[in-house]
Amino acid sequence: MAPRTNGVGIRPEETRICVVMVGLPARGKSYIAQKAQRYLKWLSIPAATFNVGNYRRNDAPHPSADFFDTNNAEGERKRRAAAEAAVADMMKWFKSGGVVGILDATNSTKERRKWVLDRINQEGVDVIFVESKCDEEELIMANIRDVKTTSPDYQGQDPEQAALDFRNRIRNYEKVYKTINADGDEDHLTYLKIMNVGRQVIINRIQDYLQSRIVYYLMNLHIRPRSVWLSRHGESMLNLEGRIGGDADLSHRGEEYALKLPELVLESVGSDRPLTVWTSTLKRTIATARHLPKHYNQLQWKALDELDAGVCDGMTYQEIADMYPEDFQARDEDKYNYRYRGGESYRDVVIRLEPIIMELERSEDILIISHQAVIRCIYAYFMQKTQEESPWVPVPLHTLMKLTPRAYGTEVQIYKAEVKAVSTWRGKGSTAKHEDPKPEGGV
Ligand code: ATP
Ligand code: F6P
Repeated sequence: MAPRTNGVGIRPEETRICVVMVGLPARGKSYIAQKAQRYLKWLSIPAATFNVGNYRRNDAPHPSADFFDTNNAEGERKRRAAAEAAVADMMKWFKSGGVVGILDATNSTKERRKWVLDRINQEGVDVIFVESKCDEEELIMANIRDVKTTSPDYQGQDPEQAALDFRNRIRNYEKVYKTINADGDEDHLTYLKIMNVGRQVIINRIQDYLQSRIVYYLMNLHIRPRSVWLSRHGESMLNLEGRIGGDADLSHRGEEYALKLPELVLESVGSDRPLTVWTSTLKRTIATARHLPKHYNQLQWKALDELDAGVCDGMTYQEIADMYPEDFQARDEDKYNYRYRGGESYRDVVIRLEPIIMELERSEDILIISHQAVIRCIYAYFMQKTQEESPWVPVPLHTLMKLTPRAYGTEVQIYKAEVKAVSTWRGKGSTAKHEDPKPEGGV
């Protein structure tokens, strides 16, 4: 029998990778670490980040710039202890089944990188260094203003003073910083070096499948301002009947939503800059997109088609409960993993959406018009919803969602079209045709 994978070609028992971040402060290391972790977890690959700064804060909560001067023996000792504690916790985490651990620290000298490599290799874990190198002064200053002055390191301090101190902290790091392989004696390392947010990239000795997946993902990240808009199609004729799947036309109210959508989009964009529109290949999403301005590029993706309900396609929940009672119950017990007979599970949908996520990361403003399960999976990626939560998130019809990536999270804005529609949300155990979500849930 072929060895089991988690569906994305990873055999957790055989792969363990430590991603070691490298770079001066305010170069987006935590940003990159956090995105990689979110992406991997979304793909069911156990991933965790160990931020050395958090460990250091236990011992030195509000250090000033000279704490980071390498001539400061006390500072050096505490920083080393923090790195050791972070690595030790990471090793424990690997032993409990972790697959990709991310060590988020500056690791900015050759000596530190050698220590990290030896320490981690000793435990049979592979190391890939990911360096962010950036010399765009304006961007660095913006990073300091946006995220550093509000760091717990500067709690209660004047932001101007904090920015000045952080600049001095960077100067202390610059005195000893060596970019990877600067002297040509780190060529044996496996690394990805991202320069000026991906304008140039160096890849060295990337070995296996998972490493190349991580590298490919990181190469596609950008930080230009942008948003992603998500909408379900307008209400369909099958929605009215409480039937799942199919390829129905829009209902009268669904048509009304399609007519209203351009206005709603314009309101949420706040300017006439064009969006690129991605729909599924099903009639109801294409019809929903058809009144959008002609200068919006439109693209149909098979990967955005609704979760395939297999033999249950076109049935009501009551009919499924009557005809396949065990399946109906099994789905409620583990909705993420339950695969319809001859169809798909949420897990399957996530896997087929992976190229969509990759393309979204590379792109700028995109409006996706798709389906309930698919939108839930994309929403889960941006909002870090767990596998238990994501299949139950209420995503009402006739509602536009605008997701805007920020430094350490995603901002959500909701625009309601005020065109009535049935509810297609279903609570656990229910076979109701149109049940309204509990008020506390979701969008
Ligand atoms: P520190 O060493 O102080 O922890 P850091 O390198 O981890 O700093 P972050 O906290 O991640 O820096 O900085 C976040 C900011 O970096 C965000 O505003 C983000 O837009 C920006 N950023 C993301 N990627 C990059 C990159 N490749 N180069 C420069 N800046 C980036
Ligand atoms: O200076 C930025 C920072 O993230 C500190 O918060 C943290 O203590 C340090 O980097 C960790 O890196 P190093 O390995 O250089 O101590």
